[in-house]
Amino acid sequence: MATRRILVTSALPYANGPLHLGHMVEQIQTDIWVRFQKLRGHECHYVCASDAHGTPIMLKAEQEGISPEALIARVQASHRADSGGFLVGFDNFHTTHSPENRHYTELFYERLLAAGYIARRPIQQAYDPVKNLFLPDRYIKGGCPRCSAPDQYGDSCEACGATYGPTDLKNPVSVLSGATPVTRESEHFFFRLGAFEQMLREWTTSASVQPEIANKLAEWFEQGLQDWDISRDAPYFGFEIPREPGKYFYVWLEAPIGYMASAQDYCNRTGLSFDDFWSAGSTAELHHFIGKDIAYFHTLFWPAMLHGAGYRRPTAVHCHGFLTVNGQKMSKSRGTFIMARTYLEHLDPEYFRYYIAGKLGPAVEDIDLNLEDFVLRVNADLVGKVVNIASRCAGFISKRFDGKLDGADTALVAELTSAADTIAAHYEQREYAKAMRVVMGLADRANQYIDQEKPWQLAKDPAQESRVQAVCSTGIELFRVLMTYLKPVLPAMAARAEDFLQSTLTWDALAAPLGAHTVAAFSPLMNRVDMDKVNAMIEDSKSNAAPAAAPAAAPATPALPIAPEISIDDFAKIDLRVARIAAAAHVDGADKLIQLTLDLGDGERNVFAGIKSAYAPESLVGRLVVVVANLAPRKMRFGVSQGMVLAAGPGGKEIFLLSPDSGAQPGMQVK
Ligand code: MSP
Ligand code: ZN
Repeated sequence: MATRRILVTSALPYANGPLHLGHMVEQIQTDIWVRFQKLRGHECHYVCASDAHGTPIMLKAEQEGISPEALIARVQASHRADSGGFLVGFDNFHTTHSPENRHYTELFYERLLAAGYIARRPIQQAYDPVKNLFLPDRYIKGGCPRCSAPDQYGDSCEACGATYGPTDLKNPVSVLSGATPVTRESEHFFFRLGAFEQMLREWTTSASVQPEIANKLAEWFEQGLQDWDISRDAPYFGFEIPREPGKYFYVWLEAPIGYMASAQDYCNRTGLSFDDFWSAGSTAELHHFIGKDIAYFHTLFWPAMLHGAGYRRPTAVHCHGFLTVNGQKMSKSRGTFIMARTYLEHLDPEYFRYYIAGKLGPAVEDIDLNLEDFVLRVNADLVGKVVNIASRCAGFISKRFDGKLDGADTALVAELTSAADTIAAHYEQREYAKAMRVVMGLADRANQYIDQEKPWQLAKDPAQESRVQAVCSTGIELFRVLMTYLKPVLPAMAARAEDFLQSTLTWDALAAPLGAHTVAAFSPLMNRVDMDKVNAMIEDSKSNAAPAAAPAAAPATPALPIAPEISIDDFAKIDLRVARIAAAAHVDGADKLIQLTLDLGDGERNVFAGIKSAYAPESLVGRLVVVVANLAPRKMRFGVSQGMVLAAGPGGKEIFLLSPDSGAQPGMQVK
């Protein structure tokens, strides 16, 4: 087997907040793959960084009254600690706010400019005349130009699903100051993505992306590749464009270059050659692990930028789905928006690593953490099957044979090692769930053997002394094989197993049984998961959510000016009623809408509500809400909406349905 040279990355987490379990899914998926490659003897390097630039980070620092540098330093330290806590073994964790990143960003720009891939032209943009900055779409709110729903973001309407530009909003306000934005012209720089269409079409067929992503790409090609706006005006926290005072590189231009910056920093430390991994003629592999939300950046812009600047393109971009908890989007109020740190305060990281491995495959599918299943699976598999093998055999070996193994059933050991190629192929293809299934099948086989041989009975018969040693030695040999297979997923438990076995677990050593060998005293390798600890974690996540929400909400909660006065007669025109949600369903093709069937006492109504970002349909059924009952029916893309449910909040996860106290009956008028 020739040694491969492999450079691997996970997406650079934003330095505006701590890591949550969703981030950990990605880093663990990557880490397992990297550890597997290393275990197989390949040269594999895993680099990452904090994504430190951009408007949200600038504003968050301002809000906390500290410099952006202080904010990102603090958050970067927390990212390091949390990833480390989950045993994610970065070889380097850098930051995009670094001299290396500035160097490569400028180099890309100069090369792309010289090759004619950068265009410049003026664009019209919303500008906050109070804060004196251009407003990203998400920082503007107003009425939907199509359905007039108030309080919609500058890119799309959560009520009717319309998409538009921020200048189309009715009565727009800046989320930052409450001021009415003005339109201003400013010159921007554009990356001419269209020039790379042919190259990108070829690259995507070279089996570097998953089929789902290839389909998406085909759609994007069909829609035509647009120029990409890569500049932002001051004030902006980032890198200024050379020779263009007041113009900054858009954070998404320099974020992927951050992979290179981290690699350069790593090469500086280790003496590795940067060019070996990045030059156009590199024979090393380059693998990016990312979430489905950022595929566009990694499968269009990034390979095009690399190619245009004279570098190699990625070998593969591996895209995963999102983590859900108990079948629903992570939610602060339910306590399922679990921060990495909160998890670590309550539970062993390897429980989560194993559980997630058991769910991960190569497809772009969401992964569910079902907390009851989590407890059952970890206890049944890791404690009940794997650890059990060693603990059933180790006592006899240490008490009666001074820790000496001998006489193992080599045929049975060979049966388990013969699965090595299958398991390796599964890991390589990111088929971790399949790998775990094979390993647990083998663990069942090992336990069956011990059940049949019953060393605890043999031990009562002095004539069976050598038989006891042989059976228990077999058990420990089998345990060694299983722990080698699991080492990429369970590095800490594998290290404890290595201490016990007095042997390093490597793929090459699989085929060589320990034979006559002395093991150390056995100490417990893993404790059972306790549902109480899981519940305590959820409670903590609920209480974390409350104080965190207050300061963090500031950019999202605009100082909305109160609307012009109305008379009591105007108000009386609105017929507000109590309704019970009889049914709630996802709407095919709508990102934001939930279809509600409302019981108003005198019959049912169909209402589309733009609340999907905050609620799962299942959680709504049975709940009382307030509806505008006399709103003219509106025809929407998905059907007719017969009314509107009332909710407060700026949108996104912060939508709060207004609910009458229990006791109110459907149909009651609200006054
Ligand atoms: N900073 C950008 C990435 C730049 S890469 C050059 C970013 N940061 S992020 O912090 O929002 O997300 C980091 C990674 O975590 C992304 O790959 C994203 O898809 C992933 N996840 C964020 N939430 C997730 C879940 N709930 N589940 C699984 N992965 C998720 O995007
Ligand atoms: Zn609308």
